[in-house]
Amino acid sequence: MMHAGSVRRREGGWPGGSALARLAALGGSLTGCEMVTAPTTTLAPKSDFARLSHDIFLRILWWDLGILLLVVTVLLFVVVRFRERDPQTMPAQVRGHAGLELSWTVAPVLVLTVIAFPTVRAVFRTQDAPPANALRVRVTGHQWWWEFEYPDLQIRTATDLHLPAGRPAALELRSPDVIHSFWIPQLGGKRDTPPGQVNRIVLTPTTPGTYYGQCAEFCGASHANMRMVAVVESPAEFEAWVAGQRRAPPTPADGTAAAAGLRVFTTGACVGCHAIGGVSGGAVGPDLSHFGSRTTIAGGMLPKTPENLTRWLRDPPEVKPGALMPNLSLSVADVQALAAYLESLR
Ligand code: CUA
Repeated sequence: MMHAGSVRRREGGWPGGSALARLAALGGSLTGCEMVTAPTTTLAPKSDFARLSHDIFLRILWWDLGILLLVVTVLLFVVVRFRERDPQTMPAQVRGHAGLELSWTVAPVLVLTVIAFPTVRAVFRTQDAPPANALRVRVTGHQWWWEFEYPDLQIRTATDLHLPAGRPAALELRSPDVIHSFWIPQLGGKRDTPPGQVNRIVLTPTTPGTYYGQCAEFCGASHANMRMVAVVESPAEFEAWVAGQRRAPPTPADGTAAAAGLRVFTTGACVGCHAIGGVSGGAVGPDLSHFGSRTTIAGGMLPKTPENLTRWLRDPPEVKPGALMPNLSLSVADVQALAAYLESLR
């Protein structure tokens, strides 16, 4: 069940955040499940890409306010100037006025053209060829979780995207199944992942923090549960994370619950889908080599707590509708052992 204290706090200024967190907490308690509350906002940008979009948004907002003022002024003038004075007299009727029709066609075209210039420029600028020092990340949208692979660092992980602040990140977006849309609002705009095509985002995160993301293209039963967490760190923290991810996962000591869990993992169906460094090579589901270092499970849907992990291992599709990981009908003891093993994978 949800406890008020376990609601994750938002990053950055965002009006109404706590009310939304409470609403999400209520949703969690109704489903009997402690959900990750994932406050998202485009109004507190934390990357150059997000800042660029935000600036365009504000610029358009001011232009629109000017247009609104102009329209309201003209409207008020017309209402007063041409009000009915004599109910018996029919006012002059205007039909097919070429000047008027031209003006209300040309004016919106001009407005949209002015808006298009900075917008299109930003779209191209955020998928330019990345600078030489960029951190390359291959992002893959799966039904229903995000995979992150760092080809130059030989790291493969899921849901938690670690990025160093101040260094450009070159994201290559793809999907093997359906169209997803990568979106971490505080780091920038949405970009789709059409199967068979690689799309790109180049962005530089500016501020360390935890920023939540969400698949933004309807992609099936658990589209709403396809989430991610961007962890933006100082370069030193990022290096420490990289070192941890590159280490071989620990082998549990004989006689421990984790050792029993390793046996469950290797003798069961788990190995067919999941990779764990030195143990298995399955490539259907998330790589679990450093599962214990992640903050969430089930594609960012649930905080990684012992209760949630147990519940997930018992019956994944019951927790996350449509989840491809089947109910393996594990015994309670096997579930406990498996949870201990996964948690030990730091
Ligand atoms: Cu993936 Cu919606």
